[in-house]
Amino acid sequence: MDQAALETARTIIEKWRPKKGNLIMILHDVQDAFGYIPPDIARYLARTLHIPLARIYEVLTFYHYFKLQPPGKYKISVCMGTACYLKGSPSLLQELKNILNVEEGQTTKDGMFYLESVRCLGCCGLSPALAVNETVHGTLTKSDVIDIVSQYAKEA
Ligand code: FES
Repeated sequence: MDQAALETARTIIEKWRPKKGNLIMILHDVQDAFGYIPPDIARYLARTLHIPLARIYEVLTFYHYFKLQPPGKYKISVCMGTACYLKGSPSLLQELKNILNVEEGQTTKDGMFYLESVRCLGCCGLSPALAVNETVHGTLTKSDVIDIVSQYAKEA
């Protein structure tokens, strides 16, 4: 763990140390700071807070909010809300899994794309839709997916 990461972790721990049941708050702040929960930070928390590492991972895996892998440069969020689902978003998600060779909650080996599904992007009129970071792509068919991935891969 580098010095800056260590300092960040220390600051977060000190901020929450007086609070009872502070583990969740600490983990939230760690994820905000790093984009995920780095394993060496999880080990550092276990040592410093005197909590078994297994307990920390129990919490991390119980709450889907927490990410155990770096988020990737581009976060692809496929909408699985009702409108999108009925118009075919499961096939968009499957196509992305095939193209990127990842499952939901995973980042591609090159660190470029992170794949997730979400409940509703708030643009049901564009269903089926997905977002890449903050940009929404709507009224998609399965064959549009490869073009979207290629476009972002080129930009990188
Ligand atoms: S259901 Fe997909 S944007 Fe609302």
